[in-house]
Amino acid sequence: MASVQLSELVDFNQKSLLISAASIAFNPTFWNIVARQEYHNKVLTRLFGGKSQTACYFLAATIFSLGIVRDLLYERALRHQPIHPLLDTDEVTYFGYGLLALGNLLVISSTWQLGITGTFLGDYFGILMDDIVTGFPFNVTDAPMYYGSTMSFLGSALVYSRPAGILITGWVLFVYLIALRYENPFTAGIYAKRDAERAAGVKKDSKKKQ
Ligand SMILES: *[C@@H]1O[C@H](CO)[C@@H](O)[C@H](O)[C@H]1NC(C)=O
Repeated sequence: MASVQLSELVDFNQKSLLISAASIAFNPTFWNIVARQEYHNKVLTRLFGGKSQTACYFLAATIFSLGIVRDLLYERALRHQPIHPLLDTDEVTYFGYGLLALGNLLVISSTWQLGITGTFLGDYFGILMDDIVTGFPFNVTDAPMYYGSTMSFLGSALVYSRPAGILITGWVLFVYLIALRYENPFTAGIYAKRDAERAAGVKKDSKKKQ
């Protein structure tokens, strides 16, 4: 059996591949920098005259648009890549569509549950959720946005029959796992602070009543 070189499956000379990889890494980097600036210095809220809700919607629209650009760059990168015959079958194509459907279901249901501000970093603007959301899709995964998006990347790779897409999906997962390690402790901290303040408030109230 002939050994297969990665360079036969993926055309690394295509600039579009690098551009796609860069845009995938750029997006979470961008929103984390902006969100932390908002949290510490209220940068966006000030820009919108103290209206944090409006500022958060603006960030949501920006992140959403960046996501569309990222998806277009990924599709373009795929079209520049070689097709592999093993991926060029009906079964693989259907499996790819299945992954796309499942990935989109996770992303859309998660947005449905969290709302716009809950999905797009509202916590950093001081717009906190009242309670932890535990219904679907949060009963199947703790990060439905990220895993759903990763599934969609893999689904497209299979629908397009491009091994390069599988490689990029690995990169997407890697970027998201780093983002989660960076974001989760910070958001947990925001809610821990709120809960501590709530508890202190309750104590004060009960003292008043005595
Ligand atoms: C998650 O919740 C949905 C809807 O409530 C339910 O149909 C599904 O069985 C649950 N899944 C798990 C793994 O609990």
